Amino acid sequence: MPKLGVNIDHVATLRQARGGREPEPIEAALICEKAGCDSIVAHLREDRRHINDGDIVELRKRINTRFNLEMSINPEIVDIALKLGPDQVTLVPEKRQELTTEGGLSVVKFEKKLAKITALFNEKGIDVSVFIGPDKNEIHSAIYIGIRTIEIHTGEYSLAKDKKSTNREFKKIKDSAEYAMSKDMIVNAGHGLNYTNVKRIANIKGINELNIGHSIISRAVFIGLRKAVQDMKALIQ
Ligand code: PXP
Repeated sequence: MPKLGVNIDHVATLRQARGGREPEPIEAALICEKAGCDSIVAHLREDRRHINDGDIVELRKRINTRFNLEMSINPEIVDIALKLGPDQVTLVPEKRQELTTEGGLSVVKFEKKLAKITALFNEKGIDVSVFIGPDKNEIHSAIYIGIRTIEIHTGEYSLAKDKKSTNREFKKIKDSAEYAMSKDMIVNAGHGLNYTNVKRIANIKGINELNIGHSIISRAVFIGLRKAVQDMKALIQ
């Protein structure tokens, strides 16, 4: 059964709207854990638009599940992550102007840099995952530099407007996931997953974990965070 990682960035987005202290991401994380999530995901962006340095320290200290820190490969952020010691880092591309992570990271393009960074994290016992599009070349490159975990970007699938393109995007994800699993990789997926499109992805046999944020936090506004997480967990199972 796939696990559920809850991304709590948008709790911090709401806090930043007023620049005060509430709602606190750590409080959200503890509720998500009580509701049965398997890991907490937070993205420390270079512009600190939502999660900040204090949040990740608090999360590291207080959560009981796995802490998956999403991050770019900017040297300042890499340094912070190495000092913090999350259970896992998920390396993503980052652009200042984007509303959210728009595409996957090109492992092919940054192979040398990523090999070095991966070695640094592995030395500290921190697992490394890369967020990539459903692309075999990226998978080959990740294997080549010793990365054992990938997260497949489900954004195109979740944005597809009609059945034909949804099916096409789904097939790309399924084929890539199965290919990576056949090479003994751990395969996660995420981005844009919600209460209607998650089932199909969760049904891909062997998929390890789904990382979901925006749809859960959105639903939580109406029905509460605990129930929103429980509902998502039930759908995945
Ligand atoms: N996984 C990764 C790597 C992401 O960058 C994001 C967005 O921060 C998510 C999962 C969660 O996406 P969403 O908020 O659309 O569920």
